[in-house]
Amino acid sequence: MAFPSAPSALWSVSLLTVLFAAAVHCNIVYDDDPLQPVTSDETVSVGGTVTLTCRVAESDDSSLQWSNTAQQTLYFGEKRALRDNRIQLHHSTSTELSITISDVQLSDEGEYTCSIFTMPVRTARATVTVLGVPGKPQMSGFEKAVPEGSKVTLTCTSTGSKPPARLIWYRGDQELEGRPNVVEAVPDNPTYNVSSELTLEVSREDDKAVITCAVDHPSLAPGDKRSEHALQVFYSLLWRSSLGTICREGEVLSFVFGQQQPRAQHLHMEEEGRRAPPSGQSRRRLPALRDAQQIR
Ligand SMILES: *[C@@H]1O[C@H](CO)[C@@H](O)[C@H](O)[C@H]1NC(C)=O
Repeated sequence: MAFPSAPSALWSVSLLTVLFAAAVHCNIVYDDDPLQPVTSDETVSVGGTVTLTCRVAESDDSSLQWSNTAQQTLYFGEKRALRDNRIQLHHSTSTELSITISDVQLSDEGEYTCSIFTMPVRTARATVTVLGVPGKPQMSGFEKAVPEGSKVTLTCTSTGSKPPARLIWYRGDQELEGRPNVVEAVPDNPTYNVSSELTLEVSREDDKAVITCAVDHPSLAPGDKRSEHALQVFYSLLWRSSLGTICREGEVLSFVFGQQQPRAQHLHMEEEGRRAPPSGQSRRRLPALRDAQQIR
């Protein structure tokens, strides 16, 4: 049959749309006003320096001006208008006015305006986003040694981030899954406190294992802010005899030495493990045994 199939009709429509969109876009570029100032949005961390640049393609020698978020004039051409030493002239020509704001604070966030005093006045806006730098994460819950087989809950908290930071847990260099981050807005302040909990069931292999809480945030390079702590796990003592017998602390171990058995002097006992904090790992040798001795 000669009917066009639905997909090919759809294809023609979308192709037309693309051509039309391209034509509209070209028109905008063609119609661009050379006196219209152009700025760009900027993102900066608290304490950092941001440069605001305003350019026009052509100049009729009208002055360019930058104003802050409260519409106060900062610079009118090369002339400083606001007494704030953090704000300095960076570059000024007939087609460009750029200024820097150093030691940026959260309160510097907002919309800045560049104007050119043509008739009529033309303006462009630049949004400055200020990132709150998260503090070094604080970890708790690792302070006490815990017996093997028990559950340990570690808490990690980082304050002052904007937008909220993400906390990531590691054991060695392996990422662990903690509870979802809890984000709390700090009153009267655009920053957030973020915390995360990690619950681990510990085995004796976890003794001295290093657990890390790292902060992931656009104001930081990876690994910039992290906190590391070693777990302390204690586990019951084992007595290991030179005959291979193993018994746990608290159990009674009896040896009866006879003619066919090894002599008591030839039997060595070693203590393995960690009795309780803070004694640490121990390896203790018993004094030579006497026949039919009981060790408790
Ligand atoms: C955020 O953390 C700060 C510093 O530890 C603390 O003083 C404040 O109470 C916390 N605010 C909230 C809402 O959790």
